[in-house]
Amino acid sequence: MSRPKSCRSRPDLNNSQEKVSVYKASAVAHSNLAFVKYWGKANAELNLPLNNSISMNLSSAQTHTTVEFSDALTSDEVFLNDERLDPTGFFWKRVSQQLDRVRALAHVEMVASVHSRNTFPSGVGIASSASGMAALTVAATAALKLDLAERELSILARLGSGSASRSIPSGFVEWLAGEDSQSSYSHQIAPPEHWAITDVAVVVSASEKSMASSDGHLLALNSPFLRTRLASLSDRLNVMRRAILDRDFETFGRELESEAISLHAIAMTSAWESPGAWHSGIYYWTPATIELIQATQDWRRDGLHVYFTLDAGPTVHLICPKDQRSAVIDAIRTLERRQKDRQWTLIESEPARGAYVTDTDEAN
Ligand code: PMV
Repeated sequence: MSRPKSCRSRPDLNNSQEKVSVYKASAVAHSNLAFVKYWGKANAELNLPLNNSISMNLSSAQTHTTVEFSDALTSDEVFLNDERLDPTGFFWKRVSQQLDRVRALAHVEMVASVHSRNTFPSGVGIASSASGMAALTVAATAALKLDLAERELSILARLGSGSASRSIPSGFVEWLAGEDSQSSYSHQIAPPEHWAITDVAVVVSASEKSMASSDGHLLALNSPFLRTRLASLSDRLNVMRRAILDRDFETFGRELESEAISLHAIAMTSAWESPGAWHSGIYYWTPATIELIQATQDWRRDGLHVYFTLDAGPTVHLICPKDQRSAVIDAIRTLERRQKDRQWTLIESEPARGAYVTDTDEAN
């Protein structure tokens, strides 16, 4: 990767007079929830999406990361929620590859110690890869004193994990699909305080999702309906953007739900093969997911302002104006109690700021 033009300063990191501990920084980033979704890649290596997407950063889903580059280490070490990651494992590799991109920009070879902590559980339908990769990117570039603009940070985060690009700017965000790496980045549509809406994520199942989104993106190309979805997205993006800017909740909600179902229609018609078995599609829903989808429609008929969206998993995200949140939570809890002994975890979020450097050290 070539060094971005607006990378304004590069320290003499090989100067032996400087202390190694100077190359340390911490950052916080929030995960995000897509209102218009990213599903399918135009370029898998560069994480270029087939379409633009629109999202909101989630206040309750934070990753806090500290990165320290050091000559004293022999290989990258990564701690997630105090647990040391296996250097042959998938997550360690993704972190180390992202550090490689940052090292290449700064022209250094020092390895790094990474300490990362999530404020939310993983595997609950909130992408820790988005907040994790955004926080890592901001902390690592700050540690090496790379002075990158928001756009460049968003491009770099995207290379690590597609939706991480949307966790760099603040509030309501659009990721431009672009045509190449430099034109595929995210920017703000409106700041967090623009609109007081709440996301209540209803975690109905603790089990892992049936297919990782990285595989789902590739399988989307197998759906005969992908072309139809993509043809409708330009209008949908315009309506969604306008609805956010106008704080038009009903228009927003209709697009939100239709969009979620459109993604799942693609997933359910993306045929794939596993050793010895053929599958007609990917089914992310559980019976509780469908119960909540149907209940949301009933609640609206009863006067609640609430719409749902779903990512690649069974968790249902219910979005409502902030002043309706207690009524929505009461409705969810009543539905939960219809079946004995079931326990749903609710995670409430409001629009949150983008990724930022912080003084608080996650390594201590
Ligand atoms: O960034 P990934 O590979 O985790 O893909 C995200 C896919 C969805 O969450 C389903 C949609 C989106 O735009 O976030």
